[in-house]
Amino acid sequence: MATKEKSVFFCKSCGNESPKWFGKCPACGEWNTCVEEKEVKSKKQEDRRQNTDVIPLPIKEITNAEEQRIVLPYAEFNRVLGGGLVLGSLVLVGGEPGIGKSTLLLQTALQLNKKVLYISGEESQTQIKMRADRVGIKNENCLILTETDTKEILKHFKDVQPDIVIVDSIQTLSSPYVDATAGTISQIRETAAEMNKIAKSYQVPVFLIGHITKDGSIAGPKILEHIVDTVLQFEGDRHYGFRILRTIKNRFGSASELGIFEMNATGLREVNNPSEFLLSQRDEEVSGIAIAATMEGQRPMLIETQALVSTAAYGTPQRSATGFDTRRMNMLLAVLEKRAGFKLGMKDVFLNIAGGIRSDDPALDLSVVAAVLSSNADIPIDNRTTFAAEVGLSGEIRAVTRIEARIAEADKLGFEKIFISKYNAKGLDTKRFHIEVIPVATVYDLATELFG
Ligand code: TYD
Ligand code: MG
Repeated sequence: MATKEKSVFFCKSCGNESPKWFGKCPACGEWNTCVEEKEVKSKKQEDRRQNTDVIPLPIKEITNAEEQRIVLPYAEFNRVLGGGLVLGSLVLVGGEPGIGKSTLLLQTALQLNKKVLYISGEESQTQIKMRADRVGIKNENCLILTETDTKEILKHFKDVQPDIVIVDSIQTLSSPYVDATAGTISQIRETAAEMNKIAKSYQVPVFLIGHITKDGSIAGPKILEHIVDTVLQFEGDRHYGFRILRTIKNRFGSASELGIFEMNATGLREVNNPSEFLLSQRDEEVSGIAIAATMEGQRPMLIETQALVSTAAYGTPQRSATGFDTRRMNMLLAVLEKRAGFKLGMKDVFLNIAGGIRSDDPALDLSVVAAVLSSNADIPIDNRTTFAAEVGLSGEIRAVTRIEARIAEADKLGFEKIFISKYNAKGLDTKRFHIEVIPVATVYDLATELFG
């Protein structure tokens, strides 16, 4: 008698498993995230046990030797990993298709003086060779394996004994112990756990490349984020050369770092001086541009905010922002209207962070406000002026963190003025800097200081 196949339901967002279909996930509350999969019966539990020789130890007998790290050839990559690749760690690199994940990891593998096992379930060995030729680096120690079965992978792993493993991509792996097709949540969960076991038992770092769905989550649920030690996201606008590698989670370092790369005809090149790179090249001064002194993780970075304010051509004014939260922009516009008397209600406002960068540093507020005011009045702001402060609902200019680092970066790059909150100015030793530090208290003050 044929047995009826049972289904299980997963939440795409949090990985919650349920025997019944649901519209709203009972665990995380998201709507429409239910996916149906065949129930999986794990096979042959016994023969999958790996001998790991791990025994319980009293905590005082555990040596707390510094985590050992492999230093990768790119400073930007080391930065997002918290100072190098920790032995035995499992690192997920997520990103949209075509953004450059395979290129980044292949390039890294090729430049490293270590034995690397690059497992590809997506491309043939020839395709990978072509890519390697394109980036033009030769390395005898990088082995390419096109295999998707985790049991076979383990076998090759034991033969090769690599120092680093790269899996491209986790969605193509399949474990023979689970009865589901590659890419399903059950498979992703299982194969990631198996790769984690390899990483931990052999103290070999493993990179997992993961695709991101259109809504920005890593295909295969949050579960994956729980299993891995570090989650990096590779992002950027395909039409720009910039690629940003951002830390989302890191058990071995700060989770707010970012590294910048540039994609060109011969692969990725790292960008060590982002500020100089991100400030747009312009000869004459135009209105609507202000430069913000932001912090991305531990690194100060100067980025350009551009605003265009014009009279609405049609009834309803349009508001749109690229690289900045639109709701935050609307709030800032409302503050300008209500607290400083600028009539922006009937104006179209477009905002853009130059270079395809996305930032949620509150210190951008002041430069957004300055750019909007500049465009509205059609008076350019001197391009040696920069801004770093948050704007509150009553129009007050609020302090931000790490103000000295921001000022120092602007100073280093030759800026002449920086506007900050008066609350940040207290106790600040401004004599150390050449740059003129101008404390302001309200958006009204800012407008007066800038445009008289
Ligand atoms: P790829 O690494 O295949 O992306 P992913 O693995 O994230 O899907 O990158 C593919 C894109 O990068 C492709 O559009 C071509 C571009 N590219 C370059 O511009 N220069 C290069 O040297 C390489 C290798 C790729
Ligand atoms: Mg790829």
